[in-house]
Amino acid sequence: MPGIVVLGAQWGDEGKGKATDLLTTEDAIDFCVRTSGGHNAGHTIVVDGQKFATHLLPSGILTPGCTSVIGNGVVVSPEALFREFDALIERQVPMGQLVVSSNAHVIASYHSIVDKVTERFLGKNKIGTTGRGIGPAYADKINRVGIRIADIFDEGILSEKVEAALEVKNHLLTKVYNRRAISVDEVVEDLRGYAERLQPMVADTSLLLNQALDDGKTVLFEGAQATMLDVDHGTYPFVTSSNPVSGGVCVGAGVGPTRIDRIIGVIKAYTTRVGSGPFPTELFDEDGEKLWRIGGEVGVSTGRDRRCGWYDAVVARYSARVNGLTELFMTKLDVLSSWERVPVCVAYDVDGLRHDEMPMTQTEFHRATPIYEYLDGWGEDISGCRAFDDLPKNAQRYVRELEGMSGVPFWAVGVGPGRDQTVVVS
Ligand code: GDP
Ligand code: IMO
Ligand code: MG
Repeated sequence: MPGIVVLGAQWGDEGKGKATDLLTTEDAIDFCVRTSGGHNAGHTIVVDGQKFATHLLPSGILTPGCTSVIGNGVVVSPEALFREFDALIERQVPMGQLVVSSNAHVIASYHSIVDKVTERFLGKNKIGTTGRGIGPAYADKINRVGIRIADIFDEGILSEKVEAALEVKNHLLTKVYNRRAISVDEVVEDLRGYAERLQPMVADTSLLLNQALDDGKTVLFEGAQATMLDVDHGTYPFVTSSNPVSGGVCVGAGVGPTRIDRIIGVIKAYTTRVGSGPFPTELFDEDGEKLWRIGGEVGVSTGRDRRCGWYDAVVARYSARVNGLTELFMTKLDVLSSWERVPVCVAYDVDGLRHDEMPMTQTEFHRATPIYEYLDGWGEDISGCRAFDDLPKNAQRYVRELEGMSGVPFWAVGVGPGRDQTVVVS
């Protein structure tokens, strides 16, 4: 099983970090690879009661012997990269090697400035981005004025490219947004400051990963963001600016689709979302507050409260379809333990019409209201369960019902944040 993808099946924060960590430690993963997004991600790993959060670094960094790779599809802020790296060094945790693609695009200081002013300008229509410069960095990539990691090592080329990137931006910043212009020299000096430390980490990661796969090594592609935040398949425009779906993995790593053997979707036993955009099962009542409280639903990257709602089986089916999921890993089943009945959205009502699949247009999705089925709760703590048969019968039934609705086998279920708090579905 050399090529494994782990990705988010909802709106992010499903527990991808935990799933990655689990696979990395248990299945002798040789490489752990990020292929899209940047330091907008926040992945939590809990090891022996100690909590770690990774943002730009692959979660496999905490497993010595596993090489962590930042692929060409990622947008890299060198400042964020070394801040995160140094924080782990400071905690004196054993770490694996880190390799960064020479073709990954750079997030420079001006990208987060543009991200923030654009959001302010959008007012009530804002996306609710993380403000980390992700969208503007991907926009530059597509506009062919991006800076790539390899450019940092040649001062002449870097200056030329930064100048080209800032030409239009400085007009916008000064004339539209009423901001000061950004100096080319300032940006070049800042990026050059990382060159010496960065250079030994940089490689042709597509070559590295393909050779590893040829040699029968196991490569885990760790998703960031999620299916419903995908720029093509998510709730556009309330999405991130990359392709977190499984198809994006090949582009973002430089490997062919034939190299992927397993595609694991990570999904919460309920739903959360950060930032703006439609969310049919969102709760505004006591149940929503209770999910938020018991689930500890506060963003790892931005500290924003996550919006909470019931499980949405339409989203699960959609994710299974657009990603070609081979299995699902359901997290946070333990959070639902105190409800007598648990509602599950099985379809939507859109203007009086039942939709069993994702509506075709965003306008319809904005108007979708959930049609619920109610499953019996189990009313007892399950955080100590370590085998599927240990789970109360109604918890087993909840898992089996949701499995049936998604059309994809469930591989495992999370019953707590710890590495060991996982039950394999048998
Ligand atoms: P990611 O972005 O997909 O990696 O997820 P986050 O780390 O942003 O958010 C998931 C949160 O759920 C983290 O606080 C995890 O420690 C926690 N978590 C993961 N799996 C479980 C689980 O099965 N039960 C509980 N209670 N918490 C979990
Ligand atoms: P992980 O990997 C949840 C959301 C932001 C915003 C939208 C666009 O931890 O699951 P961006 O800064 O990417 O341009 O913001 O996407 N978003 C996430 N929400 N989890 C994430 O990552 C997210 N990364 C981006 O809140 O709504
Ligand atoms: Mg997260």
